[in-house]
Amino acid sequence: MRVDVLTLFPEFFTGPLQASLLGRARGGGLLDVAVHDLRDWATDRHRTVDDVPFGGGAGMVLKVEPFFAAVEALFGTVEARPRTVVLTPRGQPLRQELVRTLSTQPALLLLCGRYEGIDERVHTALAHDEISIGDYVLAGGEVAACVVIEAVTRLLPGVMGNEDSASDESFSRALLEYPQYTRPAEFRGMRVPEVLRSGDHQKVADWRHAQALARTRAFRPDLYERWQSGDA
Ligand code: 6GU
Repeated sequence: MRVDVLTLFPEFFTGPLQASLLGRARGGGLLDVAVHDLRDWATDRHRTVDDVPFGGGAGMVLKVEPFFAAVEALFGTVEARPRTVVLTPRGQPLRQELVRTLSTQPALLLLCGRYEGIDERVHTALAHDEISIGDYVLAGGEVAACVVIEAVTRLLPGVMGNEDSASDESFSRALLEYPQYTRPAEFRGMRVPEVLRSGDHQKVADWRHAQALARTRAFRPDLYERWQSGDA
């Protein structure tokens, strides 16, 4: 998959794109990410990409022209752009279902906002999707773009290695994970539950399922409801 990112802070992406899964996927030729500095498409001496809002109010708004200039420089025409996502707190909350949809695209274009927002015409004319990563406020869309890239890359064919985890997917996205332990069996008085050391695979499976249910009900009643109603 090819991913192009437009941002005021390209340096945000350096670490995340090199580490761990994303670094491996890029090294293996499964993921190709190009991060572009929006200021490269400013037209004035000061490389200005924001301006005061029409109608007044606090803060600055990212201008429309640099986004269009960037898209046309990178893809030829606005129509030729790949599936385009604007990262914004007003977007739809990111869920695994949307991640799965995005992961089937050959290419994505991610637009990162900053300051008080982006000129509405960028949303109207360029965005196929507007995505938020949760109900809290970040300084900009960069971290959210990294979240989208990592969540999507996990699902690309050949990236994860252990493809048998796919069978666990429907379960793991409906309910929270059960607790995991590794050696030692006792650490500073904290013991691993006896059932996990019993060797009884059915008992282990039952215990894990019960734990997943209890945790989901306690911490994510919304997910629990959906699981119970059967449309997870
Ligand atoms: Cl995508 N952007 C910003 N600025 N804040 C957020 C967000 C995005 N998602 C959650 N909070």
